[in-house]
Amino acid sequence: MLSYRHGFHAGNPADVFKHTVLVTLVGAMQEKPRGIVFVDTHAGAAMYDLTSLMAQKTAEYRAGIEPLWARQGLDSPWRDYLEAVRSFNPDGKLRYYPGSPMLIRSMLRKSDRLYLCELHTSEQQVLAARFADDRQVEVIAGDGYRALERILPPPGGRGLVLIDPSFELKTELELMTDALARALRRFGHGVYVLWYPLIEGRDTAPDAMPGALGLVGEQWLDLRVKFSPAQRLGRMTGCGMAIINCPYRARAVLERLPEEFKS
Ligand SMILES: C[S@@+](CC[C@H](N)C(=O)[O-])C[C@H]1O[C@@H](n2cnc3c(N)ncnc32)[C@H](O)[C@@H]1O
Repeated sequence: MLSYRHGFHAGNPADVFKHTVLVTLVGAMQEKPRGIVFVDTHAGAAMYDLTSLMAQKTAEYRAGIEPLWARQGLDSPWRDYLEAVRSFNPDGKLRYYPGSPMLIRSMLRKSDRLYLCELHTSEQQVLAARFADDRQVEVIAGDGYRALERILPPPGGRGLVLIDPSFELKTELELMTDALARALRRFGHGVYVLWYPLIEGRDTAPDAMPGALGLVGEQWLDLRVKFSPAQRLGRMTGCGMAIINCPYRARAVLERLPEEFKS
């Protein structure tokens, strides 16, 4: 039984990095008019109240979104990400933190569609209630890796899959690699974005993945950040985002992000 709840971690430094990469990729893909299918295989609860007991218990957002919130004069893509978070806090006070489902939903055009997969029953209920009347969003209660077999390839040939597991399972990298191998056979030119933690004493970096998946050259872009002592989350010393088939327009911007994350 999985026990991870993202409410304890929402808005932390890992979320800031992950969601900035995500917003950048969505924006870059939408420069072309054709509709896009987005899949969030590990959706979480979509929206988090930072004043809740859960968020306050760990207060991880204090080293993540909170310091960024106060910053003025940020350039894109940090500015775009922050504007997206600000849109959920219209009174100017940081209270609500949008998870990946809400961030993607806020950027959907009429021609786009979003699938949200979630295994945890309480998160499933929250998602189902939140998107019940939303015809552009489908909530799938179940395994996100398996759901890819049903969803891919998307009818219009354009799609982005976010794979953001909690790494509670020691076999997570293998599950991810197997799912990606199957997904790439069905939809080889899709954009796939994987989050992973860098954990002291544990091998969680997907270094073997490009070889295992037969990816070549620019098909694989791996971005890593190391947390400062204030940002460090227990044994998590940093995190990474690996992107398969990164859109050309986003590449240079994304490659600069790890360096900018430090400043
Ligand atoms: C890190 S959280 C997701 C955070 C979210 N993507 C965001 O950025 O706001 C991981 C979520 O995946 C769920 N989960 C774990 N294994 C899963 C699986 N095989 N399929 C779908 N959801 C899963 C967990 O219950 C948890 O809610």
